[in-house]
Amino acid sequence: MSQSLPPWNEPAIRVLMMPRDTNAHGTIFGGVILSYIDQAGAIEARRQGCALMVTVTMDKVVFHEPVQVGDLVSFWAETIRIGRTSITVKVVVKAPRPDMAGQEITVTEAQVVYVNVGTDRRPIPIPRR
Ligand SMILES: CC(C)(COP(=O)(O)OP(=O)(O)OC[C@H]1O[C@@H](n2cnc3c(N)ncnc32)[C@H](O)[C@@H]1OP(=O)(O)O)[C@@H](O)C(=O)NCCC(=O)NCCS
Repeated sequence: MSQSLPPWNEPAIRVLMMPRDTNAHGTIFGGVILSYIDQAGAIEARRQGCALMVTVTMDKVVFHEPVQVGDLVSFWAETIRIGRTSITVKVVVKAPRPDMAGQEITVTEAQVVYVNVGTDRRPIPIPRR
């Protein structure tokens, strides 16, 4: 297992949630959150040396709290493991709560595995540091 760069001190992405992303309850659709988790994790995987990558699994997904329209949501990504061709990234999603003086709470978290691939879309080693 190769060495990973230390965690970022800022989110991989921040997104302002819009009415178009709502479910039947008027809160943000879980699939929209998963899509941003995939993007945030991929940004982290690229930072760690992956060039072209595919998502192979997304697991340990927990929706702790609903996300509201207008929430400015932060997607924090941290590398858990770098294998030969795969990288595992944990993404923690945080949103501020106005009723808690804007304090951020964890609304969702997940673990995503990406595989570094060549132009033929077959696995290739992640460059070692
Ligand atoms: C990802 C993919 C290239 C892997 O192909 P494969 O033939 O299983 O490749 P390998 O067996 O050589 O495994 C490659 C790496 O993936 C890891 N891997 C494969 N399947 C896995 C799984 N289900 N969970 C976790 N890791 C997995 C292996 O452990 C290996 O990691 P390592 O090199 O760090 O040890 C292939 O399954 C694929 O193309 N899947 C579709 C990906 C895609 O389209 N994603 C977008 C979804 S919308």
